[in-house]
Amino acid sequence: MKFVIYNSLSLHPAFETVDMEILREAFKFNATHGITGFLYRCHQHYYQYFEGTADIVDDLLPRIAKDKRHTDFQVLQVDDISSRRFTGWSMGYSRAASELQSALLSPSSSAEDVRERLTLEAQKQRATHIPPQKKM
Ligand SMILES: Cc1cc2nc3c(=O)[nH]c(=O)nc-3n(C[C@H](O)[C@H](O)[C@H](O)COP(=O)(O)O)c2cc1C
Repeated sequence: MKFVIYNSLSLHPAFETVDMEILREAFKFNATHGITGFLYRCHQHYYQYFEGTADIVDDLLPRIAKDKRHTDFQVLQVDDISSRRFTGWSMGYSRAASELQSALLSPSSSAEDVRERLTLEAQKQRATHIPPQKKM
């Protein structure tokens, strides 16, 4: 198992058509390929954490990186992981609260800080997550 955290600059407004299309694609692929994680909108930025088996993660990462719907793609952390942090989440999606936004965007935040914040925030929001789709 492996996880990735990256950030990027979105070329589209939050919570509108393009983000919904991204999520639709993500739910479909992730649910059938064992990818779980969380996508945060933070002003114009995306912060995404995703995890899964190494072969699937290695396949998905370059596909997301070259997606024309965002730019300034920057991997913050890639590492091995022994168990999932986001079991049951094909891909959570949320606007980061303002205090979290400041923490994520602060130049002094390390990748590890970002990972911890995203994990913590996602756990807080468990009640509102969208459940994974059934395997097709
Ligand atoms: C911010 C962002 C996050 C994305 N997250 C995922 C994801 O978690 N899973 C996924 O399958 N596609 C995700 N996508 C879509 C992929 O970039 C890509 O469009 C999709 O995997 C289809 O790839 P292909 O055109 O190479 O087949 C995301 C795209 C963006 C812009």
